[in-house]
Amino acid sequence: MRVLVTGGAGFIGANFVLRTLATRPDAQLTVLDKFTYAANPSTLQPVADRIRVVRGDIADAATVDPLVAESDLVVNFAAESHNDNSLADPSAFVQTNLVGTYTLLEAVRRHDVRLHHISTDEVYGDLDLDDPTRFTEETAYNPSSPYSSTKAGSDMLVRAWVRSFGIAATISNCSNNYGPYQHIEKFIPRQITNVLTGVRPKLYGDGRNVRDWIHVDDHNDAVWAVVDRGRIGETYLIGADGEVDNRTVVEAILTALGQPADAFDFVTDRAGHDRRYAIDSHRLRTELGWRPAYTDFASGLAATIAWYRENRDWWAPHKEGVEAAYARTQQILD
Ligand code: NAD
Ligand code: DAU
Repeated sequence: MRVLVTGGAGFIGANFVLRTLATRPDAQLTVLDKFTYAANPSTLQPVADRIRVVRGDIADAATVDPLVAESDLVVNFAAESHNDNSLADPSAFVQTNLVGTYTLLEAVRRHDVRLHHISTDEVYGDLDLDDPTRFTEETAYNPSSPYSSTKAGSDMLVRAWVRSFGIAATISNCSNNYGPYQHIEKFIPRQITNVLTGVRPKLYGDGRNVRDWIHVDDHNDAVWAVVDRGRIGETYLIGADGEVDNRTVVEAILTALGQPADAFDFVTDRAGHDRRYAIDSHRLRTELGWRPAYTDFASGLAATIAWYRENRDWWAPHKEGVEAAYARTQQILD
């Protein structure tokens, strides 16, 4: 099977490539990636002789079209993915997440190629902390940020192309991923690398916001389950029952690294900050038989902390720049 992995040099896409190489010997992989700031070229270096890597933009039809034409499957991970960046400047989010997805859709339509579109639970907006419900495939879209609204729009484009043009596509909406190779602008790797560099972790607002954590390998196994057994035109929610509030995560990181659990700072809250996400992945589990392997967040987090401790070369060159950018917009609260 010839698979085009767009955004395959980013966090989840690169983990997808590495895991697919380890588990699917029949797959021939081509990565199409723009190599924005979010891609780390060293991630795929060890497997460079087993894959083809094309540097290019999913919004560029001339690049996309021939790559799609020669593929059996396109898995679209490419996106601008960080909420904080979308608040500072939404333009790249509109261009990549909307125009880029549109460009891929037109190519898969032209060449009749199967598409799996990777999306997020953030399209559903947020839940109150005490809301007994969770997101399902039937929950109405209600995105809050420029990032999540462009992801919601990309999902709508995929649905419309399925209905109007009969393309063979599926969508999955996953909750917050953690694991190796995640950019250190994101919450968990930022706090791990803060502690490893002697900087106090930073919690937005009151630190009580809840995210539903899933290990990146569980996400990618679910993606393959949808590709292998999912119904065309269907949406599948991916989640591993991993709800934890941000303060608890920071305290766990500090404790694991031998620091006092309260050695963190509260900083200015994110504008429009979603309170809580929670996924009901019933459809994925019953219909496709998927189960997460990482059912204990504490041990998955411990493995992730160990990875960042052992792979300083991967992230250390970027640490100062990331923290300098945050310092320009976030103040420590008393
Ligand atoms: P990431 O920011 O780490 O990686 C995105 C990758 O896409 C990078 O390699 C970047 O260079 C590439 N890219 C960006 N613009 C591009 C363009 N125009 N053309 C080609 N490549 C481009 O993101 P991630 O965390 O790996 O997320 C991957 C996908 O999964 C995204 O669609 C995101 O919305 C979705 N998602 C992420 C999470 C999460 O917790 N990180 C959860 C659910 C869904
Ligand atoms: O739910 C899926 C989404 O998860 C994906 O679609 C996004 O691509 C991905 O970035 C992630 O979005 P979040 O905004 O939830 O992730 P982030 O890592 O930015 O923040 C997680 C939580 O931690 C959130 O409540 C904000 C908070 N936070 C974040 C940072 C960077 C802090 O308290 N301090 C921080 O320094």
